[in-house]
Amino acid sequence: MKINGKHQRTVWLAEDGFTVEILDQTKLPFSVEVIQLTSMKLAATAIREMWVRGAPLIGAVAAYGMALGMREDPSDANLQHCYDVLIATRPTAINLKWALDRTYSELRAQPSDQRQKVAYEKAVEIADEDVELCESIGEHGLSIIKQIAASKPQGQPVNILTHCNAGWLATVDWGTAISPIYKAHEAGINVHVWVDETRPRNQGLLTAFELGSHGVPHTLIADNAGGHLMQHGEVDLCIVGTDRTTAKGDVCNKIGTYLKALAAYDNKVPFYVALPSPTIDWTVYDGVKEIPIEQRSGEEQSHVNGIDPQGKLSWVNTAPSGTECGNYAFDVTPAKYVTGLITERGICSATEEALAEMFADLQQPEMA
Ligand code: MRU
Repeated sequence: MKINGKHQRTVWLAEDGFTVEILDQTKLPFSVEVIQLTSMKLAATAIREMWVRGAPLIGAVAAYGMALGMREDPSDANLQHCYDVLIATRPTAINLKWALDRTYSELRAQPSDQRQKVAYEKAVEIADEDVELCESIGEHGLSIIKQIAASKPQGQPVNILTHCNAGWLATVDWGTAISPIYKAHEAGINVHVWVDETRPRNQGLLTAFELGSHGVPHTLIADNAGGHLMQHGEVDLCIVGTDRTTAKGDVCNKIGTYLKALAAYDNKVPFYVALPSPTIDWTVYDGVKEIPIEQRSGEEQSHVNGIDPQGKLSWVNTAPSGTECGNYAFDVTPAKYVTGLITERGICSATEEALAEMFADLQQPEMA
């Protein structure tokens, strides 16, 4: 997608053919800065410290991390070491494991003198594939928005609520939940997006930045506003992303998603979840019981990033000093609250049967 009219991906290879470049998401939306990743260790730091974030993008950067690692040392021991370091960076988004398992099993089968080359090819393949999957999600999701638009009085926008950032910044390009919105906007449909701020990390600001860059009308709201808006008929549908979806359709996503799903259910607002198939964890059934929920530093709760009156990016404390802060990064929305899953192959209900039918051919990557 575009920043200042220029097409941009979130991760790409530099001209030297081995350095990996990313957008520093800790600086967005205030400034657009590129970071160069030159080692596997730096790629791991980028994921752990959320210089990059969003499940599909985490997977792609991990694959590039393996490539950087193979450039450093293509031995069996280092292959395992790279896998172990990268897999430990973030616990909830399953695309990380999916990308690492896929890369690891491919590299393991190669002689060590081929591993660097194959690792870079795999990383590029995973990144390109993510772009295709996300664009297809957009095309399928567009049909839902079209249908709602057709049912509304002429000239009235389709109001869509989203939580966190599941736009192109959370993937390699296009996004998951926001991809159908981009497609609808491109198709000339009048859409307006309610953007949840998404404390504590404020990923909603990334969504607002993206939508603003593309001219999609939107309004940033406090996380607590969604229920009120739904009660007053101001939300036609919700679309969110997911970091891990279970075999029976439970959806793990950014903290606060569950509360939005409950409000949507109570107000009969359709609640859709958009995901590429690598976000499905076929080994997990009951999301509430089985998905590990990342807990991050309390400082992300007590502090916020912002621009001070002098235009300087500042990390500001908002809590009484010494306050104990909890920072649960994700929650699980049980499948019964999900109207449908928007995937690259089409829309299906959030049930074990529908998922198994849609993805009957999917083989699980070999575990490392
Ligand atoms: O902690 P993050 O910013 O990596 O989490 C990302 C999310 O939870 C997003 O909501 C997104 O929907 C999942 S990735 C497309």
